[in-house]
Amino acid sequence: MTRVAAVILADGVADAERQARMALAAGADLVELRLDRIRDVGVGDVRRLASAVGPRSILTVRSASQGGSGHLTEARRSELLKEACTRPFPYVDIELERDRPRAAELARLTRRHRATLIVSHHFSRPAGLGQVREALDACAAIGPIAKVVVPVETIDSAVELGDLARTEVERGRRLVVIGMGVAGMLTRASAGSAGQEIQYASAGPPAAPGQLSLATAKRLRGRDSWVLGLVGHPLGHSLSPAIHEAGLEALGLPGTYLPFDVDAAGLESLLAASDRFRIRGFNVTIPYKESIVEALDELDGDAEGIGAVNTVVVGDGWTKGHNTDVFGFRLSLRSLGLRVGERRVLVIGAGGAAKAVVHVLLREGASVAVANRTAARAEALADAFDEPIEILPVERLDRSGPWDLVVNATPLGTKGFAADLPVPEAVIAKAGFVYDLGYNPPDTALLAAAKRLGRPHASGLEMLLHQAAKSFELWTGRSPPVDAMRRAAKEALS
Ligand SMILES: NC(=O)c1ccc[n+]([C@@H]2O[C@H](COP(=O)([O-])OP(=O)(O)OC[C@H]3O[C@@H](n4cnc5c(N)ncnc54)[C@H](OP(=O)(O)O)[C@@H]3O)[C@@H](O)[C@H]2O)c1
Repeated sequence: MTRVAAVILADGVADAERQARMALAAGADLVELRLDRIRDVGVGDVRRLASAVGPRSILTVRSASQGGSGHLTEARRSELLKEACTRPFPYVDIELERDRPRAAELARLTRRHRATLIVSHHFSRPAGLGQVREALDACAAIGPIAKVVVPVETIDSAVELGDLARTEVERGRRLVVIGMGVAGMLTRASAGSAGQEIQYASAGPPAAPGQLSLATAKRLRGRDSWVLGLVGHPLGHSLSPAIHEAGLEALGLPGTYLPFDVDAAGLESLLAASDRFRIRGFNVTIPYKESIVEALDELDGDAEGIGAVNTVVVGDGWTKGHNTDVFGFRLSLRSLGLRVGERRVLVIGAGGAAKAVVHVLLREGASVAVANRTAARAEALADAFDEPIEILPVERLDRSGPWDLVVNATPLGTKGFAADLPVPEAVIAKAGFVYDLGYNPPDTALLAAAKRLGRPHASGLEMLLHQAAKSFELWTGRSPPVDAMRRAAKEALS
């Protein structure tokens, strides 16, 4: 089983000892003691840490060129490493380039003291697969565990890297291969299922970009761990990772939920790699809710009816698209006490979310009008339903209404997008209820205007929670821990 090492970055030895004890008490298998981060560190500190937490530690003295803090002379690094190799640390990390001249001596010392050398190499820039393989070979020629870390910028590179790691483990190699950065998180999430030696995790804030938290890493250490995620672009506004991580943690499930910020080619690669990386499913958001339909094997009734998917379930080489936005919007109307039967509703937007909203409104008996920046898309939406839908040109909106309900199904007002009002103030002033599917920030431009004009209003947070809970149930077969998920969403928004 992959061992989880919490990375300890402290600038004093007493603090390092305290943090290490806490991480071990919190369930880390190991701690990585980064000696290079401790001010004025000397051999006495190595001995102190060895007697405090040595038998459960990786001792690392990172050089400046490999990402270390850089205040150690080469002579001091060498002295610390030699001392570490004679103490009861099960692992000592040395560097491929810097420590090559003393590797034979350090290997002899560690053998005598039954420690294992991790020979590591950190690329400072993205590298080709050939270079990564060469570095792995070179590290493995020096010590029993090879560790290669490389920045990763695309899902394709993460997939290639993860495939390489899995193949090398199958060939019997003991290794750690990490893709740095958010795009590389897939390599970390699949470390356990690929049989990598060690998962480096953060006991506090991430020590490296894309590093998993200790809680997540603990859940993923087995071979049967799996991955969920959110596919879209951009993803900065999304609360889904926080919500689903909280759900997985509350039930102690061996999965994680990652942000997959991909272009269309990246989405294709991810689908093709889902079996190998044990991806059980993912949510789909802007702008792929409609375009993904073509790539899936099967659709459920709601997704088929509106031609938009927000949840994909992956199983045994088979993909099925669902639309839990429909469920989420319907339930949110109930929890807000909004009756829409025979009421006049204006929907702004004609994308995937708008389709889900219109679908529910028509089923509930509302009379629906749609306005969208691109008129042709509004017409296409109207054509997709049997019931009549009025198409309103955007420039005529200010003379429209009054509406019983106005729903914003565009990203206007959401973090990362223009903070413009999706409808003129005149429309908001006369609206019976204003509903923004946006929820981040909680006071979008539309909701702030509704508040100022004294109109009842709600954000899309309840809808988000209900659709998330339904997706969670589809992927895990478990009853979703909605309270924990709601708490996580509110915390992420605060
Ligand atoms: N609360 C929830 O649970 C929930 C669920 C689903 C979606 N949402 C939110 O709803 C929004 C729409 O999502 P989606 O999946 O439907 O996206 P989508 O399929 O890409 O559709 C986006 C829609 O917004 C319009 N739009 C985009 N930028 C615009 C701008 N600058 N000015 C005017 N209109 C603009 C688009 O118009 P064009 O056709 O002219 O491009 C299109 O109608 C997103 O912000 C999403 O986060 C929330």
